[in-house]
Amino acid sequence: MPAKLPHPVPYQGSKRMLAPRIGAHVPRDVEVWFEPFAGSAAMTLWALDARVARHYVIADVLAPIAGLWQAIMDAPTATARRYDEIWRGQQPGNRDYFDAVRARFNAEGDPVDLLYLICRCVKNAVRFNAGGQFTQSVDRRRLGMRPERMAAAIASASHLMRGRTEVRTGDWLATTADADRRDFVYLDPPYLGTTIGRDRRYVRQLQQADLIEGLESLLARGVRFMLSYDGMTGAKSYGAPLPEALGLARLLLDAGMSAQATLSGRTERTVESLYLSPGLKPPSVPCSAQRELGGPSS
Ligand SMILES: C[S@@+](CC[C@H](N)C(=O)[O-])C[C@H]1O[C@@H](n2cnc3c(N)ncnc32)[C@H](O)[C@@H]1O
Repeated sequence: MPAKLPHPVPYQGSKRMLAPRIGAHVPRDVEVWFEPFAGSAAMTLWALDARVARHYVIADVLAPIAGLWQAIMDAPTATARRYDEIWRGQQPGNRDYFDAVRARFNAEGDPVDLLYLICRCVKNAVRFNAGGQFTQSVDRRRLGMRPERMAAAIASASHLMRGRTEVRTGDWLATTADADRRDFVYLDPPYLGTTIGRDRRYVRQLQQADLIEGLESLLARGVRFMLSYDGMTGAKSYGAPLPEALGLARLLLDAGMSAQATLSGRTERTVESLYLSPGLKPPSVPCSAQRELGGPSS
């Protein structure tokens, strides 16, 4: 990752490290760039910096995340000041502080409270229950990103976004409904393995059938897109591969050592799939590479 790219929202699973490699396949004649599953919006920050498009849309179904991006873009100084206040409110003896901010966020949905929770929670891994309440616990070994560093990241992200970026809240089908053949959509939906069942990472689940229907709609409208979806850590795979009938090329990106596995004392590499819509830069690795790597087990 180029060191200069800001990263104010340190989501676990952010595409920050992979951005230049994913970006290598992005066309450079884009009218509007869409990132409808934005989270930390790492790919949009990359795209803004690389100037791949004339306009940019950052969107997420989670209203406080979208609100956070709006606040970062429109009011960087006030947003950084509020983060500073919340961060400095944590005192060594006050073990309940994080829980109090979490309760306040769950009652009021304030975006900067969410930013603090993301920075301070276990492994920066957000967790929501079925009712949309933030449930992740505090990481007692870290204090979360220092306010000075956050202020610099917010200022720099705002500078990149201003005058070129629109923030939307909603389901990805709605927030990309106006995309057409001049545009480009980067999709990083929650993977099946992390959203269905016990490990509910995000506020909304996305069934594969719904994803496929949405992709078919993009294809029918001639919208170019790339999709990060499913992968493998060691022998464990998450998410089923997409149907070949969609005509997408599948690249496999080595995402490096799995932080999750390392924490559990194992050394395993993570491999992520990147699907390209027809007509995008031909892949350097053939689609059949998945079989060479042993293929997903699910
Ligand atoms: C895997 S994360 C995206 C991470 C992002 N690429 C990054 O670099 O941080 C998925 C995001 O999609 C959002 N999301 C889940 N279901 C959605 C839906 N149906 N429409 C739009 N956003 C959704 C979640 O709130 C979450 O922020």
